[in-house]
Amino acid sequence: MANTAHLHIDGRQFEFPLVTGSEQERAIDVSQLRAQTGCITLDDGYSNTGSCRSAITFIDGERGILRYRGIPIEELAEQSKFVETAYLIIYGHLPTQAEHRQFSDLLTENSLLHEDMKFHFEGFPRNAHPMAILSSMINAASCFYPDLLHTTAMKRDFDLQAARLISQVRTIAAFAYRKSRGLPIIYPKLDYKYTANFLHMMFSHPYKDFELDPEAVKALDLIFLLHADHEQNCSTSTVRMVASSRANLFASCAAGVCALWGPLHGGANQSVIEMLEDIHRAGDDGSRFIEAAKDKTSGKKLMGFGHRVYKNYDPRAKIIKKACDELLDKLHINDPLLDIAKKLEEAALKQDYFIERKLYPNVDFYSGIIMRALRIPLEMFTVIFAIGRMPGWIANFKEIMEEPAARIYRPRQIYVGPTLNHYVPIKDRK
Ligand code: ACO
Repeated sequence: MANTAHLHIDGRQFEFPLVTGSEQERAIDVSQLRAQTGCITLDDGYSNTGSCRSAITFIDGERGILRYRGIPIEELAEQSKFVETAYLIIYGHLPTQAEHRQFSDLLTENSLLHEDMKFHFEGFPRNAHPMAILSSMINAASCFYPDLLHTTAMKRDFDLQAARLISQVRTIAAFAYRKSRGLPIIYPKLDYKYTANFLHMMFSHPYKDFELDPEAVKALDLIFLLHADHEQNCSTSTVRMVASSRANLFASCAAGVCALWGPLHGGANQSVIEMLEDIHRAGDDGSRFIEAAKDKTSGKKLMGFGHRVYKNYDPRAKIIKKACDELLDKLHINDPLLDIAKKLEEAALKQDYFIERKLYPNVDFYSGIIMRALRIPLEMFTVIFAIGRMPGWIANFKEIMEEPAARIYRPRQIYVGPTLNHYVPIKDRK
């Protein structure tokens, strides 16, 4: 196979190296393109642009494959837990027993927020969206750990800062929810594991502990695990972009939360349930909505369907759909929205519009139904996604921090505005 690509511009030929990844995916290295030709590449939405080399996650969207550090998502979903998978994603290998214990202990020891952080929660209006609170409070938390701001200290204390962020994002998320409901804050318990502790902080009362159902804990842990990383998506690329300026870990990940919030990205899990509720309220079995979703003038989309990379069934959606059926069965819940979702999926997968465009359910299509069953309020769905995605963001930050040749991310543009123009004093303007 050739290892160079040739480009002809204005009668001149240029040669660029081809780069091959460990799964044989190929790229043209255009880092010398502008220097040699004076041209840049233009790739709206970055569909054809590799922004980095990364050893964390592999996706083959055509074949519906997702692997963290080489391990198929199906194996991790079946045999691992979120905390162990978080370690794998950040450190590149499955932990030994001693490493696992040490990592879990670090998470437990760092689950409490600085007590002064509590006052920051008071300033938000009661109906503030928890994603706004989450991003603000992650950034605010960095004020309490000044060492984060110094690259040498950050490298030295990376394990501690990473554990703090993974552990405290869960505490901040639960506190944000309690505040939004006017409920007293519940502190984490030292003897609860990661996911159980989150449910405890969300739903316990000062006078009565929340009764933890092992099936509920297992389902939520799986949701966290399935969201733990997904290579260069919108929020992860944002984290890398911010990190490339040498901004600190907390600031970089707070930016990731903002990017995740949008309905075309992590916010889709909330939008899916809102869509299913609308369909249910309208007495539609889904068929009217599907017609609207195909009509570009309707302003509607089938939320939870389609993906920039997957042109096949999203493997996470397959796992979540099965887990959803099992959980609702075990908890004896009959959710009409699940029936509508299944009908929508069945109908969409038969229609030319969705087949031609290779639109399949993505991770957000069924995850909301699991979260409803766990009594997690709708506005917290994207927050759950953010908690799960934290190890992926941290691992991507680490790659940037450890790359000696890393440069600040700075794309170019093709300028399409006015050519040279002159300032007109206000009295002369028409
Ligand atoms: N419903 C109806 N039509 C769709 C949908 C959908 N959900 N998704 C894509 N299409 C159509 C587009 O209109 C376009 O049609 P056209 O070729 O006739 O113009 C075609 O399919 C290709 O879609 P693009 O917009 O090019 O896909 P892109 O890669 O830019 O966007 C995205 C991917 C944002 C996920 C899109 O499919 C979408 O908006 N889906 C719904 C929101 C959603 O579920 N987001 C979560 C994604 S997963 C995640 O971020 C965790």
